[in-house]
Amino acid sequence: MDIRRHVPWNDRAGRFSALKTAVLGLLLLPGLAIAAGFAAGGGQPGARPVTVALHACGDWSLRFLVLSLAVTPAIALFARPRLMLVRRMVGVAAFAYAALHLTLYSADQKWNLGVIAGEIVHRIYLTIGFGALLALALLAATSADAAIRAMGASRWRWLHRLVYPAAVLALVHFFLQTRFDVSEPVLMSGLFVWLMGFRLVVRGRGVPAAGVLAGLSLAAFAATIAIEALWYGVATTAGWRTVAAANFSLVAGVRPAWLVLAAGLAVSTAARLAARRRLSAEGSPARSPRK
Ligand code: HEM
Repeated sequence: MDIRRHVPWNDRAGRFSALKTAVLGLLLLPGLAIAAGFAAGGGQPGARPVTVALHACGDWSLRFLVLSLAVTPAIALFARPRLMLVRRMVGVAAFAYAALHLTLYSADQKWNLGVIAGEIVHRIYLTIGFGALLALALLAATSADAAIRAMGASRWRWLHRLVYPAAVLALVHFFLQTRFDVSEPVLMSGLFVWLMGFRLVVRGRGVPAAGVLAGLSLAAFAATIAIEALWYGVATTAGWRTVAAANFSLVAGVRPAWLVLAAGLAVSTAARLAARRRLSAEGSPARSPRK
């Protein structure tokens, strides 16, 4: 076995890849920050280091899961097929942070496996988190090229659609464990809606036009407001109308829906500029055939 083809900073041919190395560094950064915070006793006065690290690992696992879903749209929008090299790394990082999250939870429960299993069975938010973790474990275990060869590409692709229910379960787990401010789960849900919507509008039709992307961003904006209003309407005494209306004043700060809209519009503008740059580069004299 040629080990150079399997180390995470090399490409499939075993050559050093600056892109993979940079992404690997970025994926490890939160882990280093979490470890440093843990060593410093949790960062905030009175904080329990294990709890702080447990929450941070959960947050980063979900962020990387959503980021892994953004790689395919980025490849299509920016014509960057090399990004495919890092999709698997980001997905495996999501699993690694989730596994660390469970390890910290187990440490917090004094490694009492009976208590841990009982809690996972009886607390619905933990049961849902466990479901997400199982799905991520299956995806990580079958992420190597050897698994693709063994399973065949179409069965492998079918199995890897598990990433969508895994993300939904992780989002629900996040909502259910949050007591007061659901801004981050709402933001993550809005981004997830945009990424799923992108897949729907792209289906066999090539890269969507700028107007379609703007429409998608508006739809994700509306969906994010609906998710937030629904959550507060069902789980708290705040009326859903009041929550929805808060999106149109600054009293409660900038709401997640606006961040989703801004991200969607920024991506479509950047994709348009990149396409224009590609077109002008293709038409530039340096590239045109000599007469
Ligand atoms: C067996 C699997 C899992 C267990 C036992 C578990 C357990 C927990 C616990 C105990 C909390 C904190 C609840 C509290 O403080 O009241 C939590 C929060 C969280 N978990 Fe999990 N979890 C699991 C799987 C996952 C997975 C797979 C993800 C993401 C992909 C995830 C993401 C999160 C997030 C984002 C939070 C909130 C962190 C925050 O408040 O900043 N969890 N989980």
